[in-house]
Amino acid sequence: MLNLKTGDLYKLKADAVIIPVCEDSEIHANSAVVSIINHTGTAKEFKGAKNDELTLFDLPGLKIPRIIFLGIGKIKTIDSESLRAFCGKSIKKCIRKKLENILIAAPSSGRLGMETKEILEPMLEGAFLGNHVFDKYKNEKKNRPVEKVGLFVEPEVMINFSGLPSQVETVCKGTVLAREWISIPSNYKKPEQLAKDMAVKAGKENLKVRVFDDQKLKRLGFGAILAVAAGSRSKPRLLILEYAPKGAKKTIALVGKGITFDSGGINLKPAGSSLEDMKMDMSGAAAVAATLISVAKTKPAVRIIGAIPIVENMPSGDATRPGDIVTGYNGKTIEINNTDAEGRLILADAISYVIKEYKPDILIDVATLTGACVVALGERIAGLFSPDDELAEKIIQSANKTGERCWRMPLPEDYRELIKSEFADISNMSSSKWGGAITAALFLSEFIKDTRWAHIDIAGPAYIKKETDYCGAGGTGFGVRLLCDLIQKL
Ligand code: BES
Ligand code: ZN
Ligand code: ZN
Repeated sequence: MLNLKTGDLYKLKADAVIIPVCEDSEIHANSAVVSIINHTGTAKEFKGAKNDELTLFDLPGLKIPRIIFLGIGKIKTIDSESLRAFCGKSIKKCIRKKLENILIAAPSSGRLGMETKEILEPMLEGAFLGNHVFDKYKNEKKNRPVEKVGLFVEPEVMINFSGLPSQVETVCKGTVLAREWISIPSNYKKPEQLAKDMAVKAGKENLKVRVFDDQKLKRLGFGAILAVAAGSRSKPRLLILEYAPKGAKKTIALVGKGITFDSGGINLKPAGSSLEDMKMDMSGAAAVAATLISVAKTKPAVRIIGAIPIVENMPSGDATRPGDIVTGYNGKTIEINNTDAEGRLILADAISYVIKEYKPDILIDVATLTGACVVALGERIAGLFSPDDELAEKIIQSANKTGERCWRMPLPEDYRELIKSEFADISNMSSSKWGGAITAALFLSEFIKDTRWAHIDIAGPAYIKKETDYCGAGGTGFGVRLLCDLIQKL
Protein backbone atom coordinates (compact mmCIF):
# COMPACT_ATOMS: atom_id res chain seq x y z
CA MET A 1 0.00 0.00 0.00
CA LEU A 2 2.90 2.43 0.69
CA ASN A 3 5.48 3.45 -1.90
CA LEU A 4 7.73 6.23 -3.13
CA LYS A 5 7.05 8.00 -6.43
CA THR A 6 9.20 10.36 -8.43
CA GLY A 7 9.34 11.84 -11.94
CA ASP A 8 7.26 14.45 -13.67
CA LEU A 9 4.39 15.41 -11.41
CA TYR A 10 2.48 16.63 -14.46
CA LYS A 11 2.48 13.09 -15.90
CA LEU A 12 1.79 11.01 -12.78
CA LYS A 13 -1.66 9.61 -12.14
CA ALA A 14 -3.45 9.69 -8.80
CA ASP A 15 -6.78 10.84 -7.37
CA ALA A 16 -5.10 13.66 -5.47
CA VAL A 17 -1.75 15.09 -4.53
CA ILE A 18 -1.35 16.61 -1.08
CA ILE A 19 1.22 19.35 -0.68
CA PRO A 20 2.34 20.41 2.80
CA VAL A 21 2.86 24.16 2.88
CA CYS A 22 4.72 26.03 5.57
CA GLU A 23 3.51 29.29 7.03
CA ASP A 24 6.85 31.10 7.02
CA SER A 25 9.23 29.30 4.63
CA GLU A 26 9.50 27.22 1.51
CA ILE A 27 9.89 23.52 2.37
CA HIS A 28 9.97 22.04 -1.12
CA ALA A 29 12.89 22.08 -3.51
CA ASN A 30 11.22 19.97 -6.16
CA SER A 31 10.48 22.25 -9.12
CA ALA A 32 7.21 20.56 -10.04
CA VAL A 33 5.90 21.03 -6.53
CA VAL A 34 7.12 24.63 -6.40
CA SER A 35 5.41 25.45 -9.70
CA ILE A 36 2.13 24.12 -8.33
CA ILE A 37 2.57 26.03 -5.08
CA ASN A 38 2.89 29.20 -7.15
CA HIS A 39 -0.74 28.74 -8.22
CA THR A 40 -1.76 29.65 -4.70
CA GLY A 41 -0.34 33.13 -5.14
CA THR A 42 -3.82 34.45 -5.78
CA ALA A 43 -5.41 32.68 -2.82
CA LYS A 44 -4.77 35.30 -0.16
CA GLU A 45 -6.53 33.45 2.65
CA PHE A 46 -4.20 30.49 2.30
CA LYS A 47 -1.14 31.15 4.40
CA GLY A 48 -0.02 27.64 5.25
CA ALA A 49 -1.01 28.02 8.88
CA LYS A 50 -1.62 24.67 10.55
CA ASN A 51 -4.76 23.01 9.13
CA ASP A 52 -5.27 25.72 6.43
CA GLU A 53 -6.63 23.91 3.40
CA LEU A 54 -7.04 24.81 -0.25
CA THR A 55 -8.09 22.46 -3.02
CA LEU A 56 -7.65 23.22 -6.72
CA PHE A 57 -9.41 21.07 -9.29
CA ASP A 58 -8.31 20.16 -12.82
CA LEU A 59 -5.24 22.37 -13.14
CA PRO A 60 -4.21 22.70 -16.81
CA GLY A 61 -1.58 20.17 -17.82
CA LEU A 62 -1.94 17.98 -14.72
CA LYS A 63 -3.32 14.44 -14.91
CA ILE A 64 -4.10 14.51 -11.19
CA PRO A 65 -7.55 16.07 -10.77
CA ARG A 66 -7.12 17.42 -7.22
CA ILE A 67 -4.31 19.39 -5.66
CA ILE A 68 -4.81 19.75 -1.93
CA PHE A 69 -2.59 22.28 -0.17
CA LEU A 70 -2.46 21.69 3.55
CA GLY A 71 -0.88 24.02 6.05
CA ILE A 72 1.67 22.45 8.35
CA GLY A 73 2.47 25.54 10.42
CA LYS A 74 5.76 27.27 11.14
CA ILE A 75 8.95 25.59 10.00
CA LYS A 76 10.36 25.55 13.55
CA THR A 77 7.47 23.38 14.74
CA ILE A 78 8.13 20.63 12.19
CA ASP A 79 9.55 17.44 13.67
CA SER A 80 9.02 13.74 13.14
CA GLU A 81 5.81 13.72 15.19
CA SER A 82 4.25 16.65 13.32
CA LEU A 83 5.07 14.93 10.01
CA ARG A 84 3.46 11.71 11.27
CA ALA A 85 0.40 13.72 12.32
CA PHE A 86 0.31 15.61 9.01
CA CYS A 87 0.22 12.40 6.98
CA GLY A 88 -2.29 10.76 9.32
CA LYS A 89 -4.63 13.74 8.95
CA SER A 90 -4.13 13.81 5.18
CA ILE A 91 -5.09 10.15 4.85
CA LYS A 92 -8.15 10.59 7.05
CA LYS A 93 -9.30 13.47 4.80
CA CYS A 94 -8.88 11.25 1.76
CA ILE A 95 -10.81 8.41 3.39
CA ARG A 96 -13.71 10.83 3.98
CA LYS A 97 -13.49 12.04 0.36
CA LYS A 98 -13.41 8.38 -0.81
CA LEU A 99 -10.16 8.81 -2.75
CA GLU A 100 -8.32 5.60 -3.58
CA ASN A 101 -4.89 6.56 -4.83
CA ILE A 102 -3.06 9.54 -3.39
CA LEU A 103 0.34 11.20 -3.41
CA ILE A 104 1.85 13.27 -0.63
CA ALA A 105 4.77 15.56 -1.50
CA ALA A 106 7.65 15.00 0.94
CA PRO A 107 9.46 18.20 2.02
CA SER A 108 13.17 18.34 1.19
CA SER A 109 15.76 17.46 3.76
CA GLY A 110 17.90 20.58 3.30
CA ARG A 111 14.97 22.94 3.79
CA LEU A 112 13.80 21.27 7.01
CA GLY A 113 17.28 20.66 8.39
CA MET A 114 16.39 17.02 8.99
CA GLU A 115 17.89 13.80 7.57
CA THR A 116 15.88 12.38 4.67
CA LYS A 117 15.08 9.22 6.63
CA GLU A 118 13.95 11.34 9.57
CA ILE A 119 11.37 12.86 7.23
CA LEU A 120 10.25 9.87 5.20
CA GLU A 121 9.93 7.29 7.97
CA PRO A 122 7.43 9.20 10.14
CA MET A 123 5.51 10.34 7.04
CA LEU A 124 5.11 6.72 5.93
CA GLU A 125 4.14 5.69 9.48
CA GLY A 126 1.52 8.43 9.79
CA ALA A 127 0.06 7.52 6.40
CA PHE A 128 -0.12 3.80 7.16
CA LEU A 129 -1.45 4.18 10.70
CA GLY A 130 -3.94 6.94 9.78
CA ASN A 131 -5.37 4.57 7.17
CA HIS A 132 -6.46 1.97 9.72
CA VAL A 133 -10.22 1.72 10.15
CA PHE A 134 -11.71 -0.50 12.86
CA ASP A 135 -15.26 -1.30 11.77
CA LYS A 136 -15.42 -5.04 12.45
CA TYR A 137 -18.65 -4.68 14.41
CA LYS A 138 -20.48 -2.25 12.12
CA ASN A 139 -22.90 -3.51 9.50
CA GLU A 140 -22.42 -0.43 7.38
CA LYS A 141 -18.75 0.06 6.42
CA LYS A 142 -18.76 3.80 5.74
CA ASN A 143 -15.02 4.43 5.67
CA ARG A 144 -12.86 2.40 3.34
CA PRO A 145 -9.09 2.72 3.71
CA VAL A 146 -7.20 4.46 0.88
CA GLU A 147 -5.77 1.79 -1.43
CA LYS A 148 -2.46 3.36 -2.46
CA VAL A 149 -0.36 6.04 -0.82
CA GLY A 150 2.82 7.30 -2.45
CA LEU A 151 5.27 9.85 -1.13
CA PHE A 152 6.38 12.11 -3.96
CA VAL A 153 10.17 12.50 -3.66
CA GLU A 154 13.18 13.53 -5.70
CA PRO A 155 14.84 10.84 -7.87
CA GLU A 156 17.94 10.26 -5.70
CA VAL A 157 15.75 9.88 -2.61
CA MET A 158 13.73 7.26 -4.45
CA ILE A 159 16.91 5.30 -5.22
CA ASN A 160 18.38 5.53 -1.73
CA PHE A 161 15.23 4.71 0.20
CA SER A 162 13.42 2.25 -2.03
CA GLY A 163 13.28 -0.36 0.76
CA LEU A 164 11.87 1.98 3.41
CA PRO A 165 8.11 1.76 2.63
CA SER A 166 8.01 -2.01 3.06
CA GLN A 167 10.07 -1.86 6.29
CA VAL A 168 7.68 0.71 7.72
CA GLU A 169 4.71 -1.36 6.59
CA THR A 170 5.97 -4.47 8.36
CA VAL A 171 6.27 -2.73 11.72
CA CYS A 172 3.09 -0.66 11.36
CA LYS A 173 1.13 -3.80 10.49
CA GLY A 174 2.20 -4.98 13.95
CA THR A 175 0.78 -1.79 15.48
CA VAL A 176 -2.49 -2.28 13.62
CA LEU A 177 -2.69 -5.93 14.71
CA ALA A 178 -2.23 -4.85 18.35
CA ARG A 179 -4.85 -2.10 17.93
CA GLU A 180 -7.40 -4.60 16.68
CA TRP A 181 -6.78 -7.09 19.47
CA ILE A 182 -7.21 -4.28 22.01
CA SER A 183 -10.38 -2.86 20.44
CA ILE A 184 -12.13 -6.25 20.22
CA PRO A 185 -14.69 -6.40 23.06
CA SER A 186 -14.07 -8.80 25.93
CA ASN A 187 -16.96 -11.11 24.95
CA TYR A 188 -15.07 -11.90 21.73
CA LYS A 189 -11.66 -12.37 23.33
CA LYS A 190 -11.98 -14.72 26.28
CA PRO A 191 -8.50 -15.92 27.31
CA GLU A 192 -8.83 -19.23 25.44
CA GLN A 193 -9.86 -17.40 22.25
CA LEU A 194 -7.27 -14.64 22.44
CA ALA A 195 -4.44 -17.08 23.20
CA LYS A 196 -5.49 -19.19 20.24
CA ASP A 197 -5.72 -16.25 17.88
CA MET A 198 -2.28 -15.00 18.92
CA ALA A 199 -0.84 -18.51 18.65
CA VAL A 200 -2.27 -19.02 15.14
CA LYS A 201 -0.99 -15.68 13.87
CA ALA A 202 2.45 -16.28 15.42
CA GLY A 203 2.58 -19.81 13.98
CA LYS A 204 1.99 -18.41 10.49
CA GLU A 205 5.19 -16.37 10.86
CA ASN A 206 7.13 -19.48 11.89
CA LEU A 207 7.59 -18.43 15.49
CA LYS A 208 7.86 -21.28 17.99
CA VAL A 209 4.60 -21.30 19.93
CA ARG A 210 3.65 -22.91 23.22
CA VAL A 211 0.33 -22.51 25.00
CA PHE A 212 -0.04 -23.61 28.65
CA ASP A 213 -3.65 -24.35 29.60
CA ASP A 214 -5.09 -24.22 33.13
CA GLN A 215 -4.21 -27.87 33.83
CA LYS A 216 -0.60 -27.31 32.95
CA LEU A 217 -0.48 -24.03 34.91
CA LYS A 218 -1.77 -25.96 37.95
CA ARG A 219 0.75 -28.78 37.53
CA LEU A 220 3.65 -26.34 37.24
CA GLY A 221 2.58 -24.15 40.17
CA PHE A 222 1.56 -20.84 38.59
CA GLY A 223 -0.32 -19.89 41.76
CA ALA A 224 -0.57 -16.16 41.07
CA ILE A 225 -1.98 -16.55 37.54
CA LEU A 226 -4.49 -19.12 38.83
CA ALA A 227 -5.55 -16.84 41.70
CA VAL A 228 -6.49 -14.05 39.28
CA ALA A 229 -8.30 -16.49 36.99
CA ALA A 230 -10.29 -18.15 39.79
CA GLY A 231 -13.36 -15.92 39.54
CA SER A 232 -13.90 -16.33 35.80
CA ARG A 233 -15.61 -19.11 33.86
CA SER A 234 -12.90 -18.67 31.24
CA LYS A 235 -9.69 -20.55 31.85
CA PRO A 236 -6.29 -18.83 31.92
CA ARG A 237 -3.53 -19.37 29.39
CA LEU A 238 0.17 -18.65 29.27
CA LEU A 239 1.41 -18.13 25.73
CA ILE A 240 5.13 -18.41 24.99
CA LEU A 241 6.38 -17.18 21.61
CA GLU A 242 9.97 -17.63 20.53
CA TYR A 243 11.98 -16.10 17.71
CA ALA A 244 15.36 -17.85 17.63
CA PRO A 245 17.62 -17.02 14.68
CA LYS A 246 20.70 -19.21 14.19
CA GLY A 247 23.83 -17.88 15.86
CA ALA A 248 22.01 -15.44 18.18
CA LYS A 249 24.20 -14.55 21.15
CA LYS A 250 21.69 -12.59 23.22
CA THR A 251 18.22 -13.33 24.55
CA ILE A 252 15.66 -10.60 25.12
CA ALA A 253 12.44 -11.47 26.93
CA LEU A 254 9.27 -9.43 26.52
CA VAL A 255 6.44 -9.99 28.99
CA GLY A 256 2.98 -8.48 28.37
CA LYS A 257 0.00 -8.15 30.72
CA GLY A 258 -3.01 -9.91 29.18
CA ILE A 259 -6.12 -9.22 31.26
CA THR A 260 -8.94 -9.61 28.72
CA PHE A 261 -11.31 -7.81 31.09
CA ASP A 262 -10.50 -6.18 34.41
CA SER A 263 -13.63 -5.89 36.54
CA GLY A 264 -11.44 -5.51 39.63
CA GLY A 265 -12.62 -8.89 40.93
CA ILE A 266 -14.10 -8.89 44.47
CA ASN A 267 -12.64 -5.35 44.81
CA LEU A 268 -15.05 -4.49 42.01
CA LYS A 269 -14.23 -1.26 40.22
CA PRO A 270 -16.71 1.49 41.15
CA ALA A 271 -19.04 3.30 38.75
CA GLY A 272 -17.18 6.07 36.97
CA SER A 273 -13.99 4.07 36.54
CA SER A 274 -14.68 3.44 32.82
CA LEU A 275 -15.32 -0.28 33.24
CA GLU A 276 -16.35 -0.41 29.58
CA ASP A 277 -12.75 0.43 28.64
CA MET A 278 -11.27 -2.42 30.66
CA LYS A 279 -11.22 -4.61 27.56
CA MET A 280 -7.96 -2.75 26.94
CA ASP A 281 -6.21 -4.32 29.94
CA MET A 282 -4.48 -6.76 27.60
CA SER A 283 -2.68 -4.00 25.67
CA GLY A 284 0.73 -5.12 26.96
CA ALA A 285 0.02 -8.65 25.72
CA ALA A 286 -1.06 -7.28 22.34
CA ALA A 287 2.09 -5.16 22.04
CA VAL A 288 4.35 -8.12 22.88
CA ALA A 289 2.61 -10.60 20.54
CA ALA A 290 2.52 -8.09 17.69
CA THR A 291 6.19 -7.21 18.22
CA LEU A 292 7.18 -10.88 17.97
CA ILE A 293 5.11 -11.26 14.81
CA SER A 294 6.84 -8.17 13.35
CA VAL A 295 10.37 -9.27 14.25
CA ALA A 296 9.69 -12.65 12.64
CA LYS A 297 9.63 -10.61 9.41
CA THR A 298 12.35 -8.02 10.10
CA LYS A 299 14.69 -10.76 11.42
CA PRO A 300 17.03 -9.11 13.93
CA ALA A 301 20.05 -11.19 15.10
CA VAL A 302 18.92 -11.73 18.71
CA ARG A 303 16.73 -14.40 20.29
CA ILE A 304 13.42 -12.96 21.50
CA ILE A 305 11.02 -14.64 23.90
CA GLY A 306 7.48 -13.33 24.33
CA ALA A 307 5.72 -14.44 27.51
CA ILE A 308 2.05 -13.57 27.62
CA PRO A 309 -0.21 -14.51 30.54
CA ILE A 310 -3.86 -14.19 29.49
CA VAL A 311 -6.57 -14.11 32.16
CA GLU A 312 -9.99 -12.60 32.85
CA ASN A 313 -10.41 -10.86 36.25
CA MET A 314 -13.99 -11.43 37.47
CA PRO A 315 -15.86 -11.62 40.77
CA SER A 316 -17.78 -14.80 41.62
CA GLY A 317 -18.24 -17.38 44.37
CA ASP A 318 -14.98 -18.96 43.25
CA ALA A 319 -13.03 -15.71 43.07
CA THR A 320 -9.96 -14.99 45.13
CA ARG A 321 -10.82 -12.97 48.25
CA PRO A 322 -8.96 -9.94 49.61
CA GLY A 323 -6.64 -11.32 52.28
CA ASP A 324 -6.07 -14.65 50.53
CA ILE A 325 -2.47 -15.84 50.35
CA VAL A 326 -1.16 -17.67 47.27
CA THR A 327 2.20 -19.12 46.26
CA GLY A 328 3.70 -17.81 43.03
CA TYR A 329 5.70 -19.81 40.49
CA ASN A 330 9.00 -18.95 42.19
CA GLY A 331 7.76 -20.14 45.59
CA LYS A 332 7.19 -16.68 47.11
CA THR A 333 3.96 -16.27 49.07
CA ILE A 334 1.81 -13.27 48.16
CA GLU A 335 -0.98 -11.76 50.23
CA ILE A 336 -3.64 -10.51 47.82
CA ASN A 337 -4.91 -7.45 49.63
CA ASN A 338 -6.66 -6.03 46.60
CA THR A 339 -7.98 -8.21 43.79
CA ASP A 340 -7.87 -5.19 41.44
CA ALA A 341 -4.05 -5.19 41.62
CA GLU A 342 -4.13 -8.32 39.45
CA GLY A 343 -1.71 -7.33 36.68
CA ARG A 344 1.38 -7.53 38.88
CA LEU A 345 0.29 -11.04 39.95
CA ILE A 346 0.10 -12.55 36.47
CA LEU A 347 3.28 -10.70 35.45
CA ALA A 348 5.15 -12.01 38.52
CA ASP A 349 4.50 -15.63 37.52
CA ALA A 350 5.30 -15.06 33.84
CA ILE A 351 8.52 -13.20 34.74
CA SER A 352 9.64 -15.95 37.17
CA TYR A 353 9.04 -18.61 34.54
CA VAL A 354 10.90 -16.77 31.77
CA ILE A 355 13.91 -16.06 33.98
CA LYS A 356 14.11 -19.68 35.11
CA GLU A 357 13.62 -21.28 31.68
CA TYR A 358 15.33 -18.84 29.29
CA LYS A 359 17.82 -16.86 31.43
CA PRO A 360 17.35 -13.74 29.30
CA ASP A 361 20.06 -11.06 29.13
CA ILE A 362 17.36 -8.40 29.21
CA LEU A 363 13.71 -8.55 30.30
CA ILE A 364 11.18 -5.87 29.48
CA ASP A 365 7.59 -6.01 30.64
CA VAL A 366 4.80 -3.92 29.17
CA ALA A 367 1.55 -3.47 31.07
CA THR A 368 -1.53 -1.31 31.63
CA LEU A 369 -0.57 -1.64 35.26
CA THR A 370 -1.81 1.35 37.28
CA GLY A 371 -4.25 4.22 37.22
CA ALA A 372 -1.63 6.03 39.31
CA CYS A 373 0.70 6.15 36.32
CA VAL A 374 -2.02 7.93 34.33
CA VAL A 375 -2.45 10.39 37.19
CA ALA A 376 1.31 11.06 37.11
CA LEU A 377 1.95 11.31 33.37
CA GLY A 378 -1.42 11.71 31.66
CA GLU A 379 -2.81 9.76 28.74
CA ARG A 380 -0.03 10.20 26.21
CA ILE A 381 3.14 9.26 28.07
CA ALA A 382 4.12 5.88 29.49
CA GLY A 383 6.01 5.40 32.75
CA LEU A 384 9.42 3.77 32.43
CA PHE A 385 10.93 2.05 35.46
CA SER A 386 14.40 0.52 35.39
CA PRO A 387 17.38 0.29 37.73
CA ASP A 388 19.58 0.04 34.62
CA ASP A 389 20.65 3.48 33.30
CA GLU A 390 21.98 2.17 30.00
CA LEU A 391 18.83 0.19 29.19
CA ALA A 392 16.59 3.09 30.28
CA GLU A 393 18.53 5.51 28.05
CA LYS A 394 18.08 3.23 25.02
CA ILE A 395 14.35 2.94 25.68
CA ILE A 396 14.03 6.73 25.95
CA GLN A 397 15.88 7.12 22.64
CA SER A 398 13.52 4.70 20.90
CA ALA A 399 10.56 6.39 22.56
CA ASN A 400 11.60 9.80 21.25
CA LYS A 401 12.28 8.47 17.78
CA THR A 402 8.98 6.61 17.42
CA GLY A 403 6.82 9.19 19.19
CA GLU A 404 5.76 6.51 21.71
CA ARG A 405 6.89 8.67 24.62
CA CYS A 406 8.19 7.31 27.91
CA TRP A 407 9.25 9.21 31.02
CA ARG A 408 11.62 7.62 33.51
CA MET A 409 10.26 7.19 37.03
CA PRO A 410 12.13 6.34 40.23
CA LEU A 411 12.44 3.02 42.07
CA PRO A 412 13.25 4.27 45.59
CA GLU A 413 14.51 1.50 47.92
CA ASP A 414 12.78 2.90 51.00
CA TYR A 415 9.34 2.53 49.34
CA ARG A 416 9.75 -1.27 49.50
CA GLU A 417 8.44 -0.98 53.08
CA LEU A 418 5.04 -0.23 51.59
CA ILE A 419 4.55 -3.67 50.01
CA LYS A 420 5.55 -5.70 53.06
CA SER A 421 2.94 -8.12 54.36
CA GLU A 422 2.26 -9.15 57.97
CA PHE A 423 1.43 -12.68 56.91
CA ALA A 424 3.16 -13.50 53.61
CA ASP A 425 6.46 -12.75 51.86
CA ILE A 426 4.96 -9.76 50.06
CA SER A 427 1.65 -7.90 49.59
CA ASN A 428 0.21 -7.05 46.16
CA MET A 429 -1.10 -3.76 47.55
CA SER A 430 0.73 -0.77 48.92
CA SER A 431 -0.01 0.35 52.46
CA SER A 432 0.01 3.95 51.19
CA LYS A 433 -2.57 5.35 48.82
CA TRP A 434 0.12 7.44 47.05
CA GLY A 435 2.78 6.50 44.50
CA GLY A 436 0.90 3.49 43.17
CA ALA A 437 2.80 3.26 39.89
CA ILE A 438 6.08 3.07 41.80
CA THR A 439 4.98 0.46 44.34
CA ALA A 440 3.58 -1.68 41.49
CA ALA A 441 6.96 -1.52 39.75
CA LEU A 442 8.75 -2.35 43.01
CA PHE A 443 6.48 -5.38 43.41
CA LEU A 444 7.58 -6.65 39.97
CA SER A 445 11.24 -5.99 40.81
CA GLU A 446 10.95 -8.59 43.60
CA PHE A 447 10.62 -11.29 40.92
CA ILE A 448 13.45 -10.14 38.66
CA LYS A 449 16.57 -11.42 40.49
CA ASP A 450 19.65 -9.89 38.82
CA THR A 451 18.34 -9.79 35.25
CA ARG A 452 18.67 -6.45 33.42
CA TRP A 453 15.09 -5.21 33.50
CA ALA A 454 12.73 -2.43 32.50
CA HIS A 455 9.01 -2.05 33.15
CA ILE A 456 6.83 0.13 30.93
CA ASP A 457 3.46 1.15 32.40
CA ILE A 458 1.25 1.95 29.39
CA ALA A 459 -2.06 2.43 31.26
CA GLY A 460 -2.30 5.98 29.83
CA PRO A 461 -1.34 5.74 26.15
CA ALA A 462 -2.66 2.23 25.35
CA TYR A 463 -6.22 3.31 24.59
CA ILE A 464 -8.05 6.43 23.43
CA LYS A 465 -11.74 7.24 23.57
CA LYS A 466 -11.55 9.79 20.72
CA GLU A 467 -9.52 9.61 17.51
CA THR A 468 -6.24 11.50 17.12
CA ASP A 469 -4.28 12.45 13.99
CA TYR A 470 -3.06 8.97 13.10
CA CYS A 471 -5.12 6.72 15.34
CA GLY A 472 -8.82 5.94 15.57
CA ALA A 473 -10.72 5.54 18.85
CA GLY A 474 -9.76 2.33 20.66
CA GLY A 475 -6.43 0.55 21.07
CA THR A 476 -3.42 2.60 19.95
CA GLY A 477 -0.95 -0.27 19.56
CA PHE A 478 1.47 1.72 21.76
CA GLY A 479 4.71 -0.17 22.30
CA VAL A 480 5.05 -2.10 19.05
CA ARG A 481 7.05 0.54 17.16
CA LEU A 482 9.00 1.36 20.30
CA LEU A 483 9.98 -2.27 20.97
CA CYS A 484 10.80 -3.01 17.31
CA ASP A 485 13.11 0.01 17.24
CA LEU A 486 14.68 -0.89 20.59
CA ILE A 487 15.40 -4.48 19.58
CA GLN A 488 17.60 -3.20 16.75
CA LYS A 489 19.65 -1.29 19.33
CA LEU A 490 20.17 -4.08 21.89
N1 BES B 1 -5.92 -2.31 34.87
C1 BES B 1 -5.81 -1.47 35.98
C2 BES B 1 -5.00 -0.20 35.71
C3 BES B 1 -5.59 0.75 34.71
C4 BES B 1 -6.33 1.83 35.13
C5 BES B 1 -5.36 0.61 33.37
C6 BES B 1 -6.85 2.74 34.23
C7 BES B 1 -5.88 1.50 32.46
C8 BES B 1 -6.61 2.58 32.89
C9 BES B 1 -5.11 -2.21 37.14
O1 BES B 1 -5.29 -3.57 37.18
C10 BES B 1 -5.66 -1.65 38.41
O2 BES B 1 -6.83 -1.79 38.61
N2 BES B 1 -4.82 -1.05 39.22
C11 BES B 1 -5.23 -0.48 40.45
C12 BES B 1 -4.20 -0.87 41.49
C13 BES B 1 -4.63 -0.60 42.89
C14 BES B 1 -5.80 -1.48 43.27
C15 BES B 1 -3.46 -0.90 43.80
C16 BES B 1 -5.26 1.04 40.26
O3 BES B 1 -4.45 1.58 39.53
O4 BES B 1 -6.16 1.66 40.83
ZN1 ZN C 1 -7.08 -4.16 38.19
ZN1 ZN D 1 -5.66 -4.46 35.32
